Amino acid sequence: MANGNNKNNGKALISLENVRKIYKTKAGPLEVLKGVSFNVNAGEFVAIVGPSGSGKSTLINMITGIDRPTEGEVYVAGQRLTSMGENQVAKWRGKNVGVVFQFFQLLPTLTVLENVMMPMNYVGTYKGERKERAMQLLELVDLPDVAHKYPSQISGGQQQRAAIARALANDPPLIVGDEPTGNLDTISAGIMFALFEELVANGKTIVMVTHDKDLAGQIPRVVEVRDGRILSEEEVDQRLVQR
Ligand SMILES: Nc1ncnc2c1ncn2[C@@H]1O[C@H](COP(=O)(O)OP(=O)(O)OP(=O)(O)O)[C@@H](O)[C@H]1O
Ligand SMILES: [Mg+2]
Repeated sequence: MANGNNKNNGKALISLENVRKIYKTKAGPLEVLKGVSFNVNAGEFVAIVGPSGSGKSTLINMITGIDRPTEGEVYVAGQRLTSMGENQVAKWRGKNVGVVFQFFQLLPTLTVLENVMMPMNYVGTYKGERKERAMQLLELVDLPDVAHKYPSQISGGQQQRAAIARALANDPPLIVGDEPTGNLDTISAGIMFALFEELVANGKTIVMVTHDKDLAGQIPRVVEVRDGRILSEEEVDQRLVQR
C-alpha cells in the first residue's frame, strides 16, 4: 500500500484528490503542491515530515480549510471544503478541527484563559461551563498558574501549550498541528506527545507536521512531502524517522 495514496474506502476522514496549489509571486506562479492525493482514516495518527519549503504547511492548510487549492478537491469529515465559502469553512473548522499553528497565534489582548475559552464562544457551549472547561484544559497541559496572564507574559513553550489547550476547547474529532511541539523542550514535548497518544487512544484523529525524528518515529504512519508531492511509504527518508 502506497503511504500517501491509500484510497482504500469511502470512510476516509480526510481525502485530498489531486490537490494543486499555485501561489502567484513576483517571480511568477509558484507550484507548491503538485497534485497531491492523500487519505486519512478516522482514528489514525499521522506525521507529516519533509524538508523546509517542501509544502507541509500548505498541505496542512488545505486540510483545515485555512487555505484552498488552486485545483483538486478536499473532503474532511464528509464536508467538501472546496465548495464552501470562507465563513462557512471557519464555522465548520471551529467545531470539527483543533488547529495548533507553527507560531501559536494566541490573541495578545486576551488572557491565556480567555484564549482557551474563545473557540467555545462560536459553538454555543453553555456560558457557565466555558471557564471551568478552559481551566481543566489548562490543567491538562500543565498551565493552570498562568491562566490570568497575557501571552506576552509567558514563555514560548507555555504559549505553545496554551495553543494546544485552545485546540482542544471544542473537543474536536480531528486535531491538526503544524510543529505543535516545535517550541517545547524535550520533556514538555514528551508530555504533550503522551497527551496526543491518549487523544488518539480515545478515538481522535491527529495529523501533525514535525521535524523531530524521535517523535516521528513514535507515530504509526509517516508521510513525507518533498517538493510538493507525497512520497510513497517505501520512499520516506528514514533519516527523518527514528524508530
Ligand atoms: N502565501 C504564499 N505566497 C507565496 N509563496 C508561498 C506562500 N506560502 C508559502 N509559500 C511558498 O511555498 C513553499 C512551501 O511553503 P510551506 O510553508 O508549505 O513549506 P513547509 O514545508 O511548511 O516549510 P517549513 O518546514 O519551513 O515550515 C515555500 O517555497 C514558500 O516560500
Ligand atoms: Mg511549515
